[in-house]
Amino acid sequence: MDSVPFRIEAAHDIAGCAATVPIQEEVWSGDVVVPPQLMLAVAHNGGFVALGFAEGDERAAGFVFGFLGIRDYHFRHHSHMLAVRAPYRGSGLAIALKEAQRDHCLDQGIEIVGWTMDPLEARNAAFNFAKLGAYAREYHRDFYGAMPDKLNAGLPSDRIYVEWPIGHDRTYKRLRGEDRPPSLEDAERDGIGYVLRAEGNRPGAVAPAADQTHLLLEVPTRFQELKARDAALALAWRAAAREAFESAFSHGYAAVEFLRSADGRGAYLLVPQPRREPAVDTDER
Ligand SMILES: CC(C)(COP(=O)(O)OP(=O)(O)OC[C@H]1O[C@@H](n2cnc3c(N)ncnc32)[C@H](O)[C@@H]1OP(=O)(O)O)[C@@H](O)C(=O)NCCC(=O)NCCS
Repeated sequence: MDSVPFRIEAAHDIAGCAATVPIQEEVWSGDVVVPPQLMLAVAHNGGFVALGFAEGDERAAGFVFGFLGIRDYHFRHHSHMLAVRAPYRGSGLAIALKEAQRDHCLDQGIEIVGWTMDPLEARNAAFNFAKLGAYAREYHRDFYGAMPDKLNAGLPSDRIYVEWPIGHDRTYKRLRGEDRPPSLEDAERDGIGYVLRAEGNRPGAVAPAADQTHLLLEVPTRFQELKARDAALALAWRAAAREAFESAFSHGYAAVEFLRSADGRGAYLLVPQPRREPAVDTDER
């Protein structure tokens, strides 16, 4: 959809939080809905709930919901849900909701927003890595256990933990569309190897992830369609991506980009993280 004018409204009352429920039901259509009463309690305690409205449509077109957390002795914001109704995808509303969330967090002095995502969802990967400028370095097997909703049913709910450095210059540039990732063809021309690559529809064998400056990790273009067609193939992708991410992350790589090709293929770009030297007290007194 083309860009349309939006307004973003932070929800401060039960009616605002309740307006997320039809979107939750529409997008996930599961048995599990985050109750609006809980959202309101969270919003009253430093969290953030915001609705997006498109001009000419009274119903909320999307929402974002997150709460305060602590990691490594620092406050951060955990973004638990982001959803845009199907007709408003590609419209710019999702970015506007993330910008409102970022502004809320920056006002609180928070520098990192974190969330989990299914690494096999290429569209979400393009959104999180290419458009927002997030990165990931943790993999969690079956994080939420079995999930009944239409996006997650039938597969282990593996997740990568995405971190979004909201104060960084690169993040600002990504949000303004000034800084875009290179294409997947460029990366392939540069000779970057794959830790996981599709062979037709199937995942190929996982390659070792040691001693490279860059690695690519391919995922299916439209995972939900693939899952609806062939549940066993979806499970094979889950297993292969799990092995590839776990191998790369355990060798010190982080996923820092999601690259796309002109024919629609998509792959994460992984780079080694700077090693953290152990704190050693050399002052021998
Ligand atoms: C996640 C979500 C909020 C993103 O909103 P959106 O409007 O779809 O996002 P955008 O269109 O701005 O960005 C998606 C990007 O992925 C690209 N994309 C679309 N399909 C793709 C695919 N199959 N593979 C790779 N990239 C894809 C789009 O082209 C776009 O990039 P561009 O703007 O550079 O062209 C929305 O898709 C959604 O509600 N999904 C269902 C709920 C969900 O999964 N929520 C996140 C987990 S809580």
